[in-house]
Amino acid sequence: MSVLPIRRWPDPVLSRPCAPVSDASEVAALAQDMLETMYAAPGRGLAAPQVGVALRLFVMDVTWKEGAPSPVVCVNPEIVESAAERVAGPEGCLSIPGVTAEVPRAPWIVLRWTTPEGALREERLEGPAAICAQHEYDHLDGIVTFDRIGAEQRAALEAEYAG
Ligand code: NI
Repeated sequence: MSVLPIRRWPDPVLSRPCAPVSDASEVAALAQDMLETMYAAPGRGLAAPQVGVALRLFVMDVTWKEGAPSPVVCVNPEIVESAAERVAGPEGCLSIPGVTAEVPRAPWIVLRWTTPEGALREERLEGPAAICAQHEYDHLDGIVTFDRIGAEQRAALEAEYAG
């Protein structure tokens, strides 16, 4: 396994929609490197475009910082259902270091994905897992936190990031 360099916004790879993975087993090694990269960063989620790979794949572990690792590798994830309401909460991004945005998200979603072993999974996520999955899923569509907030907050945060 190895720690990969993390692309920083506004690297163009972070603003492009990613292509579906055709064979989940082919990204198993990449997913392990992504988990190692995420833990080293340290972060709770990492999407393939953040390491320069434009494929629909992300990894997350929302509990490891509390001492109970629960790594998940999501290949070709789909949000099949989500809450109607949106609740804003603070989010960082490993590609926009030092910046915290208040991003509105659905408090729960149903996520379907393929594992690197080729199994189809579907799970209802809530709390930090729901937020993290929506954040990482956005990366696969070329969307970052800046794209989910109002113009005023965005201008202020972009200035902070550039500064
Ligand atoms: Ni991010």
